Formats: sequence, C-alpha cells, structure tokens
Amino acid sequence: MSLGKTLTLSTGAKIPQIGLGTWLSKPHEVENAVEVAIRAGYRHIDCAMIYQNQDEVGRALKKVIPSVVKREELFITTKLWNTAHKPELVEPELNESLKQLGLDYVDLFLVHWPVAFPPVPAGSSLEPEDPNRPGWAVLDLETSLTDTWKAMIKLLDTGKVKAIGVSNFRPDLIEGIVKETGVWPVVNQVEAHPLNLQDDLVEFCKKHNIHITAYSPLGNNMAGAPMLTEWAEVKEVAQKYNATPAQVLIAWGCKRGYSVIPKSVTPERIISNFQQIELSDEDYEKLCDLGRKNPKRYNVKTTYPPFWDINLFNDPLEKDVTHQIKIV
Ligand SMILES: NC(=O)c1ccc[n+]([C@@H]2O[C@H](COP(=O)([O-])OP(=O)(O)OC[C@H]3O[C@@H](n4cnc5c(N)ncnc54)[C@H](OP(=O)(O)O)[C@@H]3O)[C@@H](O)[C@H]2O)c1
Repeated sequence: MSLGKTLTLSTGAKIPQIGLGTWLSKPHEVENAVEVAIRAGYRHIDCAMIYQNQDEVGRALKKVIPSVVKREELFITTKLWNTAHKPELVEPELNESLKQLGLDYVDLFLVHWPVAFPPVPAGSSLEPEDPNRPGWAVLDLETSLTDTWKAMIKLLDTGKVKAIGVSNFRPDLIEGIVKETGVWPVVNQVEAHPLNLQDDLVEFCKKHNIHITAYSPLGNNMAGAPMLTEWAEVKEVAQKYNATPAQVLIAWGCKRGYSVIPKSVTPERIISNFQQIELSDEDYEKLCDLGRKNPKRYNVKTTYPPFWDINLFNDPLEKDVTHQIKIV
C-alpha cells in the first residue's frame, strides 16, 4: 500500500500531501470515512471544533490505532474556533478538541479564522447570532489577533501541539502577528483551487517558508455552484490522464506545492482521491487559465448565513462590510 508523498514543514516535520477533509460530513458518516481513509493509506486528517464531529473522528482513530497505524505515523490537524479567541480560552479549547479526538497531542493547531466571536456557554451555537440583527453573527471586536496568537505560542511548551498555524489569513494579517511576536505560523490553510489562484499570497508564503494547505480543492460544497469536478475543462484534462476530475484538481494543488485535503464520505472517492497523478506544465497552465479569466472565491462569509460583517479577503463581495480585523 502506498502512503503517498510527504512535504517538509518549517519545523522539520513531514506533512502528508493528501489528507482527508471532514467538514460537512454528516453524523455517522465521518467515522466510517476516517477509518476507510486510514486503511487506504491516508495519514493526514483535517479536523476542527466547528465541524462538531471530532468525537466521531476520535472513534475511528481508536479503531485504527495501534492496529493499523501508530499515532506518530498520523498527522492530525485541528483548529481553534472563533468563540475561543480570548487568550484564557485557547488552551481549554485545545484540551476539549484533544478529548473529543481521544489524543494527547495534535500535529497542527490552527487559528481557524482571523475573526473573534464572544464566548458562548457549552452546548449553545458556536456562531452566536446578533439579537438585534437576525442572520448576522455577533463579533468580538476587542480581542486582537495578536492576543490570540500569543496564547497559541504558549501552547508550544505544553507538548499538546507539534506546530501552530493559521487559516484564512491574508499576508498583512500574518505580518501583523509576526511583527508583534516574532513567531511565524508554520501553515496557512486557505481555499485553493484553479479558480482561486491568489498568487500574491502564495508568493508571500513561499518567501516566509509557510506551508499552504488547500481547502475546498474540488470547489466548495456549500456554494450551490457546480463543483469544479463538473466543469468541462476539468473533465477534458481528466480524460487525457484516464483519471477522475477530482484527481486532476488534487494534482493541480500538489503541483503548486500545497497539501490538499479533499473531503469525501464515499469510500470509492476516498480511495481514488488518494491516488496521485502528475499534471504536465501545459495542463496545469490550462487549469490556471480558468482562474485567470474568472477568479472565484467561494467561502466568503458575507454570502451565506450567519453573515459576518467584517472584511476578510478584500473580496469585491465584501465591499459593504462595516468592520476591519483588529491585528493588535
Ligand atoms: N479552514 C477552513 O476555513 C476550511 C474551510 C472549508 C473546508 N476546510 C477543510 O477542507 C476540506 C475540504 O473542503 P470542502 O469540504 O469545502 O470541499 P471539497 O473537498 O472541495 O469538496 C467536497 C465535496 O466533493 C465531493 N467529492 C469528493 N470526492 C469527489 C470525487 N472524487 N468526485 C466527485 N465529487 C467528490 C464530496 O462528496 P461526498 O463526501 O459525498 O463524496 C463533497 O460533496 C473540508 O472538509 C475541511 O476539512 C477548511
């Protein structure tokens, strides 16, 4: 069984290039998906508190450790949710994720979004709604990214995280937290597929040895638009390689040096997504042209409820927002 390629992070640790995404996996689906994936050779699983299924992921891990894999052979990522950005909440939330996953440590702990929400009581919605503005999330505009990042840095001494990083961060946000703390994120996990090239971000991350993990590599499944796997241009390339469209999209991300975390709960897809193919420069460029002509970012929080009234990406769809991110 092939375990696939790995890439080296700035810490020296290896990250398996293809991992399994777990967002929007329905109850009882993700446990099976994680087990199937690990038995098929996946060693990298992407999790988050907000996916509200980490206990199921944990149950799957329990089934395969140590009979199929040793813990140290796996690369497990989880993320700090927006309601736990206050410094004193960062370690307790990590502890809760570790409990759900049944682990002593994670390989990577990310700040999920550069946006804070007020803390919420256990058991209530993790996207608290503004009572005066139905459909919109309440923001915590006091806690800065630097406050949160300092608490993330402290975790490195606890042995409970091997590396820390960010997700959905623009270059100026990363520069801001590094200026205040001197500590670079090891990873930035961002939406990345041929329609969302974000060459500036990619160049910035390369220059500063920040590894990029590509989320929604097949096109975001929340957006209601046809997935990129349905696009004629992608299908045409796939035919040439006798591959699936998903394999082509995953290969596109791999060629850019990303790790790529397609989500699936369908065993045949989980297995085929892990079978890596390599694109020619010409086919890679053909796919890049799709984004050069029609750039599209799907995961814009002003486009689906609960809406977030804050500028995340300087995307045209965010032009009417009220707030900017507080870095310091
Ligand atoms: N950091 C962040 O803010 C953030 C945001 C979004 C996502 N993520 C992470 O990235 C992961 C992937 O992103 P995503 O879930 O948004 O989207 P995605 O992986 O691009 O697409 C998932 C969708 O593609 C389908 N699919 C999977 N393999 C396929 C194949 N071979 N052929 C056709 N369709 C296929 C899946 O269906 P089935 O499951 O039914 O097979 C699912 O509907 C997430 O699960 C999560 O772990 C992170």
